[in-house]
Amino acid sequence: MPPIPPLIEDIRKSMVVDPLRADSRTIDPGSPLGLNAQKAREAINWGQADFDEPFGALSAEDRGLLYAYWNQKRHVEELSEAFRQIFSDGWPDQPLIVIDLGCGPFTGGLALAGQLPPTASFDYIGIDRSQAMRRFGERFACKVNATNGLPNIDHYWASSMADIKWPQPPGWRPILVIVSFLLASTSLDVKCLVVPMRSLHAHIRINMITTGNP
Ligand SMILES: C[S@@+](CC[C@H](N)C(=O)[O-])C[C@H]1O[C@@H](n2cnc3c(N)ncnc32)[C@H](O)[C@@H]1O
Repeated sequence: MPPIPPLIEDIRKSMVVDPLRADSRTIDPGSPLGLNAQKAREAINWGQADFDEPFGALSAEDRGLLYAYWNQKRHVEELSEAFRQIFSDGWPDQPLIVIDLGCGPFTGGLALAGQLPPTASFDYIGIDRSQAMRRFGERFACKVNATNGLPNIDHYWASSMADIKWPQPPGWRPILVIVSFLLASTSLDVKCLVVPMRSLHAHIRINMITTGNP
């Protein structure tokens, strides 16, 4: 898989790697916050944790940082490759609206920002049940906007699809939905996902084009 663009790596370093290395609990750089890889994976429950809850001596924010340290980079790489393949014929003429379900720390937005030309822009709607993750994602999105050479992003956050307050009238812009977190879900309920997605889609876009049965 091609490497993550250097500007995106720099953002991850300043927001994830450096704070963990500077933490007084980190004695060995390979074990941030004093937890080896196995213990860290237990602390984040393989990405399925309640990221608003502390875990032992770890705060909710510590768990988000550990998640970003151990898992986010690989997800950025995978999504970057997915975007390269989906848009191999070129980017849409109009700015994308991106809906990232179970967004975590802005992972899908980071991957897309690294692939689009710097003059591009997109709207990003990050949906995550964890307030701590949404706050972390917001900091990432602001960092991208403050970095020369990366696209500009209007970002919105919500705990569920029903909570999204889309400020613009319905239009014709292309919508990209990222559902990657579901791949790790142990209790995937397709109906619970698709029904609110259709309402949201209709709210944002004038007309939805679908194939097959609703
Ligand atoms: C495995 S992490 C993935 C984060 C991000 N998509 C990535 O690839 O790095 C899963 C995220 O989904 C969130 N999540 C889990 N169940 C959810 C639900 N029912 N609704 C919204 N978010 C959920 C968690 O809080 C967590 O941040």
